[in-house]
Amino acid sequence: MRRFENRVCVVTGGARGIGAAIAYRLGLEGCKVAILDIDDSAGSIRIEELRARGIEATYIHADVASENDVSKAMDTVFSRYNAINVLVNNAGIGSSGKSIEEQTIDEWRRVIDVNLTGAWLCTKHAVRYMKKSGGVIINIASTRAFQSEPNTEPYSASKGGLVALTHALAISLAKYGIRVLSISPGWVDTSNWQIPPRESVLTPLDNLWHPAGRVGKPEDIAALVAFLASDEASWITGVNIIIDGGVTAKMVYMDENVIEWALSILFQDTTIAKLFRDAIEKVKRYSDRERVKRVLEEMLNKL
Ligand SMILES: NC(=O)c1ccc[n+]([C@@H]2O[C@H](COP(=O)([O-])OP(=O)(O)OC[C@H]3O[C@@H](n4cnc5c(N)ncnc54)[C@H](O)[C@@H]3O)[C@@H](O)[C@H]2O)c1
Repeated sequence: MRRFENRVCVVTGGARGIGAAIAYRLGLEGCKVAILDIDDSAGSIRIEELRARGIEATYIHADVASENDVSKAMDTVFSRYNAINVLVNNAGIGSSGKSIEEQTIDEWRRVIDVNLTGAWLCTKHAVRYMKKSGGVIINIASTRAFQSEPNTEPYSASKGGLVALTHALAISLAKYGIRVLSISPGWVDTSNWQIPPRESVLTPLDNLWHPAGRVGKPEDIAALVAFLASDEASWITGVNIIIDGGVTAKMVYMDENVIEWALSILFQDTTIAKLFRDAIEKVKRYSDRERVKRVLEEMLNKL
């Protein structure tokens, strides 16, 4: 299917990872692709790959957190292709994982600048051209906008902001025929789309934890972007779509059932998992550590 013949897309952070898969998918469907990134060596390799597959593609060095870079980049895309129809705000960075007391203001600012301000800047400067033709803006947020592990404040806040930015822009830009959406991926293994590609290190537990039976692939996100950017999605704007193999919908109680399930996948052995489950069931109400130790020792002796 070539749904984007003669259209022009800008994909930020398109040199590697999810952005590269998005650039490839839109390119295969007929788009002229402009990749904005700061990793120049990955960018030039990626552009050669796209061109080798017959895709019209350009790499532009641009830090999305720099208004000067972004403004010039959008001018370059328009002067080269005479349109900007689709903008995918994908460039993003993680945060350090340090506790709130150890997080620095510089870290906070950089994550917000790249992940949130970057999308705002790219939109601001792309809209100068997009409003001539109408178009679609897709922000790559994250399920981290809604769920957290400890110590992820800069990243989670940036992605929550991106979801709110999405509906604000959708309402403001509707008058130009521009739709604005966000996509919140869960865990996506980008190994295959790195430069050079890396070996995936996923365990069976990583995969089977997902109701859909596997961790996501960049191609999953690219397929959704292609649908949302196409005319088939012309009635969808202002919303966030979660794509996570079912993880955020899954209620989890940390009891012996879930532990038995996880151990059976980890050990690939239901007998061992059942033994652990029986032991947990026995000890879970004991407050006496010595009794707990005795039961666990008995269980280990049976292995
Ligand atoms: N991989 C996941 O599990 C996952 C899950 C949810 C959301 N996301 C989001 O998807 C997006 C892509 O993630 P990924 O896993 O492919 O990351 P990645 O690190 O593999 O790729 C990110 C790309 O963005 C570029 N980039 C980084 N900072 C930039 C800047 N300031 N200006 C321009 N380009 C910049 C990098 O050079 C790289 O090419 C990010 O916004 C990320 O937060 C990823």
